[in-house]
Amino acid sequence: MDERVYELLNDQINKELYSAYLYMSFADYYEDEGLSGFANWYMIQAAEERDHALIFRKYLLDNGKSVQLKGIDQPDKTFSSYLGPLEAALEHEKYVTSLINDIYGAAHDVKDYRTMKFLDWFIEEQLEEETNAEDMITKMKLFGTDAKALYDLDQEYAARAYSMPTPLANA
Ligand code: FEO
Repeated sequence: MDERVYELLNDQINKELYSAYLYMSFADYYEDEGLSGFANWYMIQAAEERDHALIFRKYLLDNGKSVQLKGIDQPDKTFSSYLGPLEAALEHEKYVTSLINDIYGAAHDVKDYRTMKFLDWFIEEQLEEETNAEDMITKMKLFGTDAKALYDLDQEYAARAYSMPTPLANA
């Protein structure tokens, strides 16, 4: 495997684990605010991000490469409104999309078609994650100021259940 592609794939393990950490901090914020449905949604998101890290880990191991785990940064955001974490999540997912695109670009440069194919799942996933983040912002802007509507929204997010991402479930 090309060294730059390897480094980017290995770094992505760290980025995905940071995403898990970040979303756990969002869950903590909502738990403090009494919105346990939103907290549930972000704890499940954190589990999905950990799974993303495990998918990259497995890909490296399957390709005979070693994994180098690095320190995870501390999430440092504070929020003054319910909208805050939702907007931070969209910004973060756009950043993650750019990281996935960078790996794809590096793989393309060296004709690493296997890695490009591996990344296809993540390209689809990023579209879904950005769409979810945008949808949550829209709903909060529409309903967030009405107590009953906010309660219903919280109930909706409380119903989110964990399911293992396909690349791990099929492993
Ligand atoms: Fe692993 Fe939210 O992207």
